[in-house]
Amino acid sequence: MSWISLSLLLALAFVRPGACGMVNRTIDDQNGDQVTGKVPIYTPAGGWTQGSHCNGCGINISIGVDPGELFDGTWHDTTVHPNGPPHAITMNFTGSAVYVFNMIANHVAHVSTATHLIFSIDGQRVGTYDHIPDNTSAFYYHVPVYTNSSLPYGEHDLQIVADGSQLSLVLFDYVVCVVKDRSYVVQPHLHIFFNLPAPYNWHLDTFKFFNIIVPFNKHLGTFCTIPIP
Ligand SMILES: *[C@@H]1O[C@H](CO)[C@@H](O)[C@H](O)[C@H]1NC(C)=O
Ligand SMILES: *[C@@H]1O[C@H](CO)[C@@H](O)[C@H](O)[C@H]1NC(C)=O
Ligand SMILES: *[C@@H]1O[C@H](CO)[C@@H](O)[C@H](O)[C@H]1NC(C)=O
Ligand SMILES: *[C@@H]1O[C@H](CO)[C@@H](O)[C@H](O)[C@H]1NC(C)=O
Ligand SMILES: *[C@@H]1O[C@H](CO)[C@@H](O)[C@H](O)[C@H]1NC(C)=O
Repeated sequence: MSWISLSLLLALAFVRPGACGMVNRTIDDQNGDQVTGKVPIYTPAGGWTQGSHCNGCGINISIGVDPGELFDGTWHDTTVHPNGPPHAITMNFTGSAVYVFNMIANHVAHVSTATHLIFSIDGQRVGTYDHIPDNTSAFYYHVPVYTNSSLPYGEHDLQIVADGSQLSLVLFDYVVCVVKDRSYVVQPHLHIFFNLPAPYNWHLDTFKFFNIIVPFNKHLGTFCTIPIP
């Protein structure tokens, strides 16, 4: 029988799901929800164009739109004419806050760039956005055309409408919603035990090396760092 034995135990502790608290989740106009992949629905069918590779859109890369300024380099383009049918973007999102981001255009020769939008959540009208072009040729990127940070946490339905009551250009880029983090943290521990006759037996507990954040998907889980407790 040995007097001294040393044992090492490497234990993995799974701790603190949702350790990052609330995180931002993006719904891109083209690539959809970064977790579910679900893409917004654009109506009427055929009424919208992917602006980043559109032939015949008056707002395009050759007149100075910088695709690097658009989320994933994409945006949806439509022009709604007075007395024409409304054009709408509909999506579901989960969260307690929602932010809608558009690109906004100003003076472009022969193109009507005024923007008029109506926002509804869960079927209730909650806001509007209007932009009258200034006389510059600037494009404004990541413009928060609607924000709401006082929603009850849960699944909601968002509708963005240009209703045809006036001429309106829509350049929709992306939506951000604020959701509970669903990643979790793995914490490797090393326990070292020295087995000596009593009363000298003791164990040196728990070296915690580092935290590994196991992301819920490829994007989430990278937004926060967690100190070792
Ligand atoms: C989430 O996105 C909103 C809108 O862009 C921003 O104001 C907020 O700071 C973001 N929060 C985090 C944790 O990144
Ligand atoms: C880009 O927009 C300009 C000005 O609005 C237009 O003259 C041109 O035809 C457009 N190009 C494409 C590829 O749509
Ligand atoms: C939103 O969710 C409801 C119920 O799950 C579903 O019927 C509807 O098609 C969804 N809408 C969109 C735009 O994905
Ligand atoms: C946010 O959404 C809630 C629920 O639809 C609504 O009651 C509230 O007026 C909205 N707030 C803003 C600033 O739009
Ligand atoms: C825009 O309008 C302002 C005031 O109306 C004027 O001072 C300015 O020169 C104009 N700029 C351009 C680029 O036309």
